[in-house]
Amino acid sequence: MEKQNIDWANLGFGYIKTDYRYVSNYKNGAWDEGALTTEDTITLNECACVFQYAQTCFEGLKAYTTEDGHIVTFRPDLNAERMINTAKRLEMPPFAKERFLDAITKLVAANAGFVPPYGSGATLYIRPFLFGTNPVIGVKPASEYQFRAFVTPVGPYFKDGAKPITIRVCDFDRAAPHGTGHVKAGLNYAMSLHAIVDAHKQGFDENMYLDAATRTYVEETGGANFIFITKDNTVITPKSDSILPSITRRSILHVAEHYLGLKAEERPVLFEEVKDFAECGLCGTAAVVSPVGKIVDHGKEICFPSGMEKMGPVTQKLYDTLTGIQMGRIEAPEGWIHVIK
Ligand code: PLP
Ligand code: COI
Repeated sequence: MEKQNIDWANLGFGYIKTDYRYVSNYKNGAWDEGALTTEDTITLNECACVFQYAQTCFEGLKAYTTEDGHIVTFRPDLNAERMINTAKRLEMPPFAKERFLDAITKLVAANAGFVPPYGSGATLYIRPFLFGTNPVIGVKPASEYQFRAFVTPVGPYFKDGAKPITIRVCDFDRAAPHGTGHVKAGLNYAMSLHAIVDAHKQGFDENMYLDAATRTYVEETGGANFIFITKDNTVITPKSDSILPSITRRSILHVAEHYLGLKAEERPVLFEEVKDFAECGLCGTAAVVSPVGKIVDHGKEICFPSGMEKMGPVTQKLYDTLTGIQMGRIEAPEGWIHVIK
Protein backbone atom coordinates (compact mmCIF):
# COMPACT_ATOMS: atom_id res chain seq x y z
CA MET A 1 0.00 0.00 0.00
CA GLU A 2 1.36 3.39 -0.98
CA LYS A 3 2.17 5.86 1.79
CA GLN A 4 -0.56 8.42 2.32
CA ASN A 5 0.16 12.01 1.46
CA ILE A 6 0.18 13.33 5.04
CA ASP A 7 2.31 16.08 6.57
CA TRP A 8 3.76 13.60 9.12
CA ALA A 9 6.07 16.08 10.83
CA ASN A 10 3.22 18.41 11.76
CA LEU A 11 0.68 15.92 13.06
CA GLY A 12 -0.85 16.56 16.47
CA PHE A 13 -2.57 13.94 18.61
CA GLY A 14 -5.88 13.74 16.76
CA TYR A 15 -8.17 11.45 14.81
CA ILE A 16 -7.67 10.93 11.10
CA LYS A 17 -9.93 8.42 9.41
CA THR A 18 -7.97 5.56 7.88
CA ASP A 19 -9.14 2.86 5.47
CA TYR A 20 -9.87 -0.10 7.77
CA ARG A 21 -11.00 -0.94 11.27
CA TYR A 22 -11.44 -4.37 12.90
CA VAL A 23 -14.78 -5.45 14.38
CA SER A 24 -15.92 -8.52 16.28
CA ASN A 25 -19.32 -8.92 17.96
CA TYR A 26 -20.28 -10.97 21.02
CA LYS A 27 -23.73 -12.57 21.18
CA ASN A 28 -25.23 -15.68 22.80
CA GLY A 29 -22.12 -16.15 24.88
CA ALA A 30 -19.53 -16.18 22.07
CA TRP A 31 -17.39 -13.85 19.96
CA ASP A 32 -17.89 -14.08 16.19
CA GLU A 33 -14.86 -14.57 13.99
CA GLY A 34 -14.35 -10.83 13.39
CA ALA A 35 -13.26 -9.00 10.26
CA LEU A 36 -11.80 -5.81 8.87
CA THR A 37 -14.34 -3.29 7.62
CA THR A 38 -14.29 0.14 5.99
CA GLU A 39 -17.41 1.23 7.94
CA ASP A 40 -16.37 3.82 10.50
CA THR A 41 -19.77 4.50 12.04
CA ILE A 42 -21.64 2.43 14.63
CA THR A 43 -25.43 2.28 14.92
CA LEU A 44 -26.77 1.17 18.30
CA ASN A 45 -30.03 1.12 20.18
CA GLU A 46 -30.57 4.25 22.29
CA CYS A 47 -30.64 2.11 25.44
CA ALA A 48 -27.32 0.32 24.75
CA CYS A 49 -25.47 -0.32 28.02
CA VAL A 50 -22.51 1.76 26.83
CA PHE A 51 -24.76 4.85 26.62
CA GLN A 52 -26.65 4.34 29.87
CA TYR A 53 -24.01 2.93 32.21
CA ALA A 54 -20.72 3.63 30.42
CA GLN A 55 -19.84 -0.03 30.04
CA THR A 56 -16.81 0.56 27.88
CA CYS A 57 -13.06 0.17 28.08
CA PHE A 58 -10.14 0.73 25.76
CA GLU A 59 -6.46 0.23 25.10
CA GLY A 60 -3.78 2.31 23.43
CA LEU A 61 -0.63 1.15 21.66
CA LYS A 62 1.42 2.25 18.69
CA ALA A 63 2.87 0.90 15.46
CA TYR A 64 6.28 2.16 14.38
CA THR A 65 8.34 2.02 11.20
CA THR A 66 11.78 0.78 12.21
CA GLU A 67 15.12 1.96 10.88
CA ASP A 68 15.28 -1.09 8.58
CA GLY A 69 11.78 -0.54 7.18
CA HIS A 70 9.64 -3.01 9.14
CA ILE A 71 6.33 -2.14 10.75
CA VAL A 72 6.23 -3.24 14.39
CA THR A 73 4.22 -2.84 17.57
CA PHE A 74 5.61 -2.63 21.08
CA ARG A 75 4.61 -5.25 23.69
CA PRO A 76 1.03 -5.67 22.40
CA ASP A 77 0.67 -8.80 24.54
CA LEU A 78 0.63 -6.56 27.62
CA ASN A 79 -2.17 -4.43 26.16
CA ALA A 80 -4.12 -7.62 25.44
CA GLU A 81 -3.64 -8.80 29.02
CA ARG A 82 -4.58 -5.42 30.48
CA MET A 83 -7.74 -5.32 28.39
CA ILE A 84 -8.70 -8.75 29.69
CA ASN A 85 -8.22 -7.52 33.28
CA THR A 86 -10.26 -4.42 32.55
CA ALA A 87 -13.05 -6.42 30.92
CA LYS A 88 -13.30 -8.71 33.95
CA ARG A 89 -13.53 -5.72 36.32
CA LEU A 90 -16.35 -4.25 34.22
CA GLU A 91 -18.23 -7.58 33.85
CA MET A 92 -17.52 -7.71 30.11
CA PRO A 93 -16.52 -10.82 28.16
CA PRO A 94 -12.72 -10.70 27.67
CA PHE A 95 -11.41 -10.66 24.12
CA ALA A 96 -8.78 -13.42 24.04
CA LYS A 97 -5.12 -12.47 23.83
CA GLU A 98 -4.49 -14.34 20.55
CA ARG A 99 -7.59 -12.72 19.05
CA PHE A 100 -6.39 -9.28 20.16
CA LEU A 101 -2.94 -9.82 18.62
CA ASP A 102 -4.43 -11.16 15.40
CA ALA A 103 -6.83 -8.20 15.14
CA ILE A 104 -4.04 -5.65 15.69
CA THR A 105 -1.78 -7.35 13.18
CA LYS A 106 -4.44 -7.44 10.45
CA LEU A 107 -5.56 -3.88 11.22
CA VAL A 108 -2.10 -2.34 11.02
CA ALA A 109 -1.14 -4.33 7.92
CA ALA A 110 -4.33 -3.22 6.16
CA ASN A 111 -3.59 0.42 7.01
CA ALA A 112 0.15 0.22 6.24
CA GLY A 113 -0.01 3.38 4.14
CA PHE A 114 -0.93 5.32 7.26
CA VAL A 115 2.05 4.16 9.32
CA PRO A 116 4.32 7.21 9.51
CA PRO A 117 7.76 6.74 7.92
CA TYR A 118 10.86 6.16 10.04
CA GLY A 119 12.29 9.41 11.36
CA SER A 120 9.14 11.46 10.69
CA GLY A 121 8.46 12.01 14.38
CA ALA A 122 4.97 10.51 14.02
CA THR A 123 3.61 7.05 14.85
CA LEU A 124 0.42 5.10 14.23
CA TYR A 125 -1.78 5.08 17.33
CA ILE A 126 -3.92 1.95 17.72
CA ARG A 127 -7.13 2.22 19.73
CA PRO A 128 -8.85 -1.09 20.58
CA PHE A 129 -12.06 -0.78 22.58
CA LEU A 130 -14.88 -2.91 23.89
CA PHE A 131 -18.42 -1.86 24.81
CA GLY A 132 -21.87 -3.18 25.76
CA THR A 133 -24.26 -2.89 22.82
CA ASN A 134 -27.71 -4.27 23.73
CA PRO A 135 -30.46 -2.33 25.53
CA VAL A 136 -30.13 -2.40 29.34
CA ILE A 137 -32.22 -0.23 31.65
CA GLY A 138 -31.90 -1.95 35.04
CA VAL A 139 -28.33 -1.56 36.26
CA LYS A 140 -26.67 -4.74 35.02
CA PRO A 141 -24.05 -5.70 32.43
CA ALA A 142 -24.97 -6.02 28.76
CA SER A 143 -25.24 -9.45 27.17
CA GLU A 144 -23.99 -8.32 23.77
CA TYR A 145 -20.73 -6.51 23.03
CA GLN A 146 -18.54 -5.16 20.29
CA PHE A 147 -14.75 -5.26 20.17
CA ARG A 148 -13.47 -2.70 17.70
CA ALA A 149 -10.04 -1.30 16.88
CA PHE A 150 -9.09 1.60 14.64
CA VAL A 151 -5.83 3.38 13.94
CA THR A 152 -4.88 7.01 13.46
CA PRO A 153 -1.50 8.57 12.68
CA VAL A 154 -0.39 10.85 15.52
CA GLY A 155 2.29 13.32 16.50
CA PRO A 156 3.18 14.40 20.06
CA TYR A 157 0.48 14.27 22.77
CA PHE A 158 1.59 17.62 24.22
CA LYS A 159 1.69 20.27 21.55
CA ASP A 160 5.23 21.50 22.12
CA GLY A 161 6.61 17.99 21.74
CA ALA A 162 9.62 17.50 23.97
CA LYS A 163 9.37 20.87 25.78
CA PRO A 164 8.75 20.56 29.53
CA ILE A 165 5.16 21.09 30.60
CA THR A 166 3.60 22.71 33.65
CA ILE A 167 1.09 20.74 35.70
CA ARG A 168 -0.97 21.46 38.79
CA VAL A 169 -1.92 19.46 41.81
CA CYS A 170 -5.58 18.71 41.20
CA ASP A 171 -8.36 19.10 43.78
CA PHE A 172 -10.53 16.53 42.01
CA ASP A 173 -9.91 12.83 42.47
CA ARG A 174 -9.46 10.45 39.59
CA ALA A 175 -9.82 7.06 41.25
CA ALA A 176 -11.02 5.76 44.59
CA PRO A 177 -9.27 3.10 46.68
CA HIS A 178 -10.73 -0.25 45.55
CA GLY A 179 -12.25 1.51 42.52
CA THR A 180 -11.29 1.27 38.85
CA GLY A 181 -8.11 3.35 38.62
CA HIS A 182 -6.02 0.25 37.88
CA VAL A 183 -7.99 -0.66 34.77
CA LYS A 184 -8.58 1.21 31.52
CA ALA A 185 -12.29 1.91 31.93
CA GLY A 186 -13.79 4.75 29.88
CA LEU A 187 -15.43 6.01 33.06
CA ASN A 188 -12.02 6.96 34.53
CA TYR A 189 -11.54 9.36 31.65
CA ALA A 190 -15.09 10.77 31.86
CA MET A 191 -14.24 11.57 35.50
CA SER A 192 -11.18 13.53 34.39
CA LEU A 193 -12.77 15.69 31.69
CA HIS A 194 -13.92 18.50 33.96
CA ALA A 195 -10.55 18.50 35.71
CA ILE A 196 -8.58 18.76 32.46
CA VAL A 197 -10.81 21.49 31.01
CA ASP A 198 -10.40 23.42 34.25
CA ALA A 199 -6.62 22.85 34.27
CA HIS A 200 -6.32 24.16 30.70
CA LYS A 201 -8.46 27.21 31.60
CA GLN A 202 -6.03 27.97 34.41
CA GLY A 203 -3.06 27.64 32.04
CA PHE A 204 -1.82 24.17 33.05
CA ASP A 205 -1.03 21.34 30.66
CA GLU A 206 -2.12 18.48 32.92
CA ASN A 207 -3.31 17.47 36.38
CA MET A 208 -1.33 15.65 39.02
CA TYR A 209 -3.80 13.47 40.93
CA LEU A 210 -3.05 12.57 44.53
CA ASP A 211 -4.39 9.51 46.33
CA ALA A 212 -8.08 10.07 47.09
CA ALA A 213 -7.95 8.69 50.66
CA THR A 214 -5.18 10.82 52.18
CA ARG A 215 -4.16 13.29 49.44
CA THR A 216 -0.55 12.81 50.45
CA TYR A 217 0.74 10.37 47.80
CA VAL A 218 1.36 10.98 44.10
CA GLU A 219 -0.84 8.91 41.80
CA GLU A 220 -0.73 9.81 38.10
CA THR A 221 -2.10 12.26 35.52
CA GLY A 222 -5.23 11.82 33.42
CA GLY A 223 -3.34 9.83 30.78
CA ALA A 224 0.14 8.91 32.00
CA ASN A 225 2.16 7.62 34.96
CA PHE A 226 4.93 9.63 36.65
CA ILE A 227 8.65 9.03 36.73
CA PHE A 228 10.96 10.99 39.01
CA ILE A 229 14.73 11.13 39.03
CA THR A 230 16.48 11.71 42.34
CA LYS A 231 19.57 13.89 42.70
CA ASP A 232 21.67 10.71 42.73
CA ASN A 233 20.08 9.45 39.49
CA THR A 234 17.68 6.83 40.85
CA VAL A 235 14.53 6.41 38.79
CA ILE A 236 11.45 6.36 41.01
CA THR A 237 7.90 5.67 39.96
CA PRO A 238 4.81 5.72 42.20
CA LYS A 239 3.32 2.42 43.29
CA SER A 240 -0.42 2.44 43.92
CA ASP A 241 -3.36 0.07 43.50
CA SER A 242 -5.41 2.86 41.96
CA ILE A 243 -3.19 3.88 39.01
CA LEU A 244 -3.00 2.30 35.59
CA PRO A 245 -0.17 -0.25 35.27
CA SER A 246 1.52 1.61 32.41
CA ILE A 247 3.36 -0.57 29.92
CA THR A 248 5.70 2.33 29.17
CA ARG A 249 6.50 2.71 32.87
CA ARG A 250 7.19 -1.01 33.28
CA SER A 251 9.46 -0.84 30.21
CA ILE A 252 11.27 2.25 31.49
CA LEU A 253 12.09 0.54 34.80
CA HIS A 254 13.68 -2.30 32.84
CA VAL A 255 15.55 0.10 30.55
CA ALA A 256 16.83 2.11 33.52
CA GLU A 257 18.22 -0.96 35.26
CA HIS A 258 19.36 -3.15 32.41
CA TYR A 259 20.36 -0.69 29.68
CA LEU A 260 21.48 2.36 31.65
CA GLY A 261 22.74 0.74 34.86
CA LEU A 262 20.58 3.00 37.02
CA LYS A 263 18.81 2.14 40.22
CA ALA A 264 15.06 1.93 39.67
CA GLU A 265 12.38 1.80 42.36
CA GLU A 266 8.64 1.40 42.29
CA ARG A 267 7.30 2.59 45.64
CA PRO A 268 4.71 4.91 47.18
CA VAL A 269 5.85 8.49 46.59
CA LEU A 270 4.78 11.20 49.04
CA PHE A 271 3.94 14.51 47.39
CA GLU A 272 6.12 16.05 50.09
CA GLU A 273 9.18 14.36 48.52
CA VAL A 274 8.61 15.74 45.04
CA LYS A 275 10.34 19.08 45.65
CA ASP A 276 13.60 17.22 46.30
CA PHE A 277 13.69 15.37 42.96
CA ALA A 278 15.96 16.48 40.12
CA GLU A 279 13.71 15.58 37.19
CA CYS A 280 10.10 14.70 36.59
CA GLY A 281 8.39 13.17 33.57
CA LEU A 282 5.17 11.59 32.38
CA CYS A 283 5.22 8.25 30.65
CA GLY A 284 2.67 6.46 28.52
CA THR A 285 1.96 5.32 25.00
CA ALA A 286 0.60 8.71 23.95
CA ALA A 287 2.90 10.77 26.19
CA VAL A 288 5.97 8.58 25.43
CA VAL A 289 8.28 10.32 27.94
CA SER A 290 7.21 13.94 28.39
CA PRO A 291 9.25 16.13 30.73
CA VAL A 292 7.55 18.13 33.49
CA GLY A 293 9.35 21.39 34.29
CA LYS A 294 7.06 22.79 36.96
CA ILE A 295 4.38 21.58 39.35
CA VAL A 296 2.07 24.14 40.93
CA ASP A 297 0.42 23.26 44.23
CA HIS A 298 -2.16 25.93 45.00
CA GLY A 299 0.18 28.77 44.10
CA LYS A 300 3.32 27.11 45.48
CA GLU A 301 5.72 26.25 42.66
CA ILE A 302 8.06 23.30 42.42
CA CYS A 303 10.57 24.06 39.66
CA PHE A 304 12.80 21.15 38.71
CA PRO A 305 16.49 21.91 38.18
CA SER A 306 16.16 20.53 34.62
CA GLY A 307 14.24 23.73 33.79
CA MET A 308 11.60 24.66 31.20
CA GLU A 309 13.70 24.43 28.04
CA LYS A 310 14.64 20.78 27.66
CA MET A 311 14.39 17.33 29.18
CA GLY A 312 16.62 16.56 32.12
CA PRO A 313 19.65 14.40 31.27
CA VAL A 314 18.36 11.14 32.76
CA THR A 315 14.86 11.60 31.31
CA GLN A 316 16.54 12.20 27.94
CA LYS A 317 18.53 8.95 28.22
CA LEU A 318 15.39 7.02 29.13
CA TYR A 319 13.54 8.60 26.20
CA ASP A 320 16.36 7.90 23.73
CA THR A 321 16.75 4.28 24.83
CA LEU A 322 13.04 3.49 24.91
CA THR A 323 12.33 5.07 21.51
CA GLY A 324 15.54 3.51 20.17
CA ILE A 325 14.17 0.08 21.11
CA GLN A 326 10.76 0.88 19.63
CA MET A 327 12.23 2.08 16.32
CA GLY A 328 14.75 -0.75 16.01
CA ARG A 329 17.93 1.29 16.61
CA ILE A 330 18.66 -0.54 19.86
CA GLU A 331 18.25 -4.26 20.41
CA ALA A 332 15.04 -5.02 22.28
CA PRO A 333 14.62 -7.48 25.13
CA GLU A 334 13.19 -10.81 23.98
CA GLY A 335 9.50 -10.57 23.08
CA TRP A 336 9.12 -6.79 23.20
CA ILE A 337 8.83 -6.18 19.46
CA HIS A 338 6.00 -7.71 17.46
CA VAL A 339 6.77 -7.56 13.74
CA ILE A 340 3.72 -6.91 11.55
CA LYS A 341 5.49 -6.80 8.19
N1 PLP B 1 -2.12 6.18 33.02
C1 PLP B 1 -3.24 6.46 32.36
C2 PLP B 1 -4.38 7.02 33.13
C3 PLP B 1 -3.34 6.23 30.98
O1 PLP B 1 -4.46 6.51 30.32
C4 PLP B 1 -2.23 5.71 30.30
C5 PLP B 1 -2.30 5.42 28.88
O2 PLP B 1 -2.50 4.33 28.44
C6 PLP B 1 -1.07 5.44 31.03
C7 PLP B 1 -1.05 5.69 32.38
C8 PLP B 1 0.14 4.88 30.36
O3 PLP B 1 -0.02 3.52 30.08
P1 PLP B 1 0.75 2.86 28.88
O4 PLP B 1 2.20 3.15 29.10
O5 PLP B 1 0.43 1.42 28.99
O6 PLP B 1 0.25 3.50 27.64
C1 COI C 1 -2.48 6.14 25.85
O1 COI C 1 -1.39 6.64 26.14
O2 COI C 1 -2.60 5.22 25.04
C2 COI C 1 -3.71 6.60 26.49
O3 COI C 1 -4.66 5.87 26.45
C3 COI C 1 -3.77 7.92 27.09
C4 COI C 1 -4.85 8.75 26.51
C5 COI C 1 -4.99 9.93 27.40
C6 COI C 1 -4.57 9.18 25.10
